[in-house]
Parts: sequence; structure tokens; C-alpha cells
Amino acid sequence: MTETVLLVGGGGREHAIARALADDCDLYACAKNENPGIVRIASGFESIDETDADAIVEYAESIGADAAIIGPEAGLAAGVSDALDAAGIYAFGPRSEEARIETDKAFQRRFMRENAVPGCPDFETFEDMEAACRYIDEYDGDLAVKPAGLTGGKGVKVIGDQVTAAEAKTYLRESDYDRVVLEERLVGEEFTIQAFVANEEVRTTPAVQDHKRAYEGDEGPNTGGMGSYSDTGFSLPFMDEGDYEAAVAIIEAVVDALPAYKGILYGQFMLTEEGPRVVEFNARFGDPEAMNTLPVLETPFLDVITAARDGNPLPELEFTGEATVCKYAVPDGYPTDPDAGARIDVDEESVGDALLFYASVEDRGDGIYTTTSRAFAVVGLGESIAVAEASAEEGLAAAGDRVRIRHDIGTRDLVERRIDHMDAIRE
Ligand code: AMP
Ligand code: GLY
Repeated sequence: MTETVLLVGGGGREHAIARALADDCDLYACAKNENPGIVRIASGFESIDETDADAIVEYAESIGADAAIIGPEAGLAAGVSDALDAAGIYAFGPRSEEARIETDKAFQRRFMRENAVPGCPDFETFEDMEAACRYIDEYDGDLAVKPAGLTGGKGVKVIGDQVTAAEAKTYLRESDYDRVVLEERLVGEEFTIQAFVANEEVRTTPAVQDHKRAYEGDEGPNTGGMGSYSDTGFSLPFMDEGDYEAAVAIIEAVVDALPAYKGILYGQFMLTEEGPRVVEFNARFGDPEAMNTLPVLETPFLDVITAARDGNPLPELEFTGEATVCKYAVPDGYPTDPDAGARIDVDEESVGDALLFYASVEDRGDGIYTTTSRAFAVVGLGESIAVAEASAEEGLAAAGDRVRIRHDIGTRDLVERRIDHMDAIRE
């Protein structure tokens, strides 16, 4: 029997999910933007906001969906999984209660503390911004200031890195956040591990390093992620033996304490001198990280979803063993003043061996137009990070000149800087 699967979301992450599923099922998709890559491989597409749970259920019922996967956190926060499950359509994504691990950072930290999940930084939560400012004055060391709700990765301010203590206090006083988390600043190298989770089982994928800063050399404001790389094994070049396993143990401790969790659990870790500590959890694939992970997954993604739904053991995952480098093309001015509505050229014929994933663009029939968010990504694969990087650069011949790219991602120079940084921290 051919399974019918509904994919919710229209970014680069969802194009990667669509590509991983399309050959094995009858795939339909809905999102607020019409992602040309997804529309092309789906049997049907409907323009629906990712947070409109009623409309998504109605569409899922109309196509006879057997399962659904929700890409973006906004949909999970809006209860799209709850609504689909209630309608008898299995959602591979946590219900809003479990998605709080991402959608409420104050809940997330308290959950870690109460369940003794390892790797939790020292933290306090505040509703009174003046009390938060006093805490900054009194705390011995640097703090990260985090709004408790979703901000697309752009609301966090780290004292001693992006801002001074005085700037952090001005930020707290001038923003209208209801609740903030102030936590110990973690120093080290960041990495991501994404896990498939269902029925208390966990299957992890290779570590990925994302690059959040807008400009080359890790300068500029934080973005949703400008690009990312993964290596041929599960670990990354700056990690020591045991670091990957220590991070997986943290993910497993979360699942032990949240047995109803299903879908993707994404751990963002800071590798510190004491080993991996938790920056955050996300309740879905990373964007861009999904574009590193799904192309090297040999096990059909559909088999994971159906096993999860049917209560069967999750398959052991097989990977191709290739390294990957993903580079995003973003509108000029992104993220502070993005040039939305610009017509961009994407020459698909020039991508070569690399993979092209469309993201937040709009296909208006007469061409592809930018939105305020990331436009498209090119992913190179190869026997080493260097080979994958070269392939991604060749693929970027497809990009016209109205987009901006961090060409340094995955280069030997940047990878070695990360190794040197970690060596210096360990000394
Ligand atoms: P988040 O939205 O929690 O992923 O935070 C966005 C970015 O802020 C992370 O990727 C880190 O680079 C940084 N960050 C968050 N929390 C901390 C922390 N406790 N220490 C240092 N950096 C942090
Ligand atoms: N790449 C960061 C995220 O998806 O949250």
C-alpha cells in the first residue's frame, strides 16, 4: 500500500524532507509560501499558514493522509500535531505539550533541572525586567539573555560576546518580553545532533555545525543559520572521542523524562572544557541542518515514520558516510533589512553534483522572488569536508548576484580555526 504523507512547511528544511520522502510515498505539502522545489515533487500543494491547525487537518483529510510531518516550530507551538492526532492522522512531530522543550525556554531549563538532565547551565527565569537587570549586576560572570518564547534564534543576546552588560540591560528594558531566562554564558564550540524519537526510542544522526552569524569570519548579527557542515562519521573535527556519546546521553535523558515525545528532537550543544552542555533543544529538524543530514540518510525516512506510527521498533539508521557542506543564499541585507520581493536567478542546470534546496522564496510564475528570509541553499557531498565544500562552491554557480552567501563555511581555514579554538579551551 502506498502511504499518503502530508508535509507542513515551505523552507529549505522542508524541501530536504520532501526530497527524502517523495520516492517512497504519495507526498502532499502545505505552507504559506509556494516553495518551487517542494511543489515540483509533491502530488499536491495547498497554500495554508503552518499555524492554521484547522485548515491543515481539513487538507490532510481531503487527501486521505496516513501520516504527517511538521517542519517548523511555529506549527508545533500552534498545536498542529495535537489537531492531526485528534483527527486520527499520525503526526511525526511532538504535541504542543512536549514541544515546549523548544517553545518555552523557561520550561526547558526547569525541565532539565527537575529531571537532572546533564549539561544544564546555571540559570534563573524572570518576569520582572528590573529584577533581571539586578541579577545581571550581581552575577559573577557573563550571562546569556533569552526571551522565553520563540524568536527564530534571533532574540538571544550574549554578554561578553555580542553585547555588554549595559547593552543587555537596555535590551531588557526596551523590549516587551513577558519572561526571560538569564543563564550562564557557555564558552566553546557549538554543534547540533538531531534524533528521530518515538515510543521512547532514540535514533541519532551525525553531528552538524551551523553558522549563525550573518557575515564571514563569524561577524555580524545572528541569523536563522547561514550554512553548516557534517563529517564522514558521527563526530566533527573539533570533537574528541566521547563528546558525541555524551551529547547523545543528554538527548536520551530528555526522552526518558518525556516518554510521549515523538518526532525529531534536536539538541544544540556547546562543547565546553567540561564536555557538551545544552544551549537549547528544538522540537524539529534544524534548518539548515536537515539539508546536511537527510541527503546522507540511506534508511528510508518513511520507514522511520511508519514504524513510529505503528508502534514497531524504529529501524537502525544507515548513512552513506559522506561529508556535507551546506551554504545558504540569502537576500541582500538579511537579517536586519532584507531585500524582500527581489527577483533572483537560480540556474538549476549549473548546480553540478551539488543539491539545490529552495527555501523561503515565492514562485510567481514569471520568476523566483525573495521573501524576508533565506532564499535557497546548495549542499555539496563528498569523501571529506574539503571535497564537499568544493562541490558546494561549484553548485553556487547557480546563484545570481542578488543574494549573499557566506563562502567561508566548510573551508579548511574555518574548520581549522574551530579545532584551534577548542584546543585552546581544553588547555
Ligand atoms: P538559541 O535561540 O537558544 O539557540 O540561541 C541562539 C544562539 O545564542 C546560540 O546558537 C548560541 O550561539 C547563543 N547562546 C544561547 N545560549 C547561550 C549560552 N548559555 N551561552 C553562550 N551562548 C549562547
Ligand atoms: N539552525 C538552527 C535552527 O534550526 O534552529
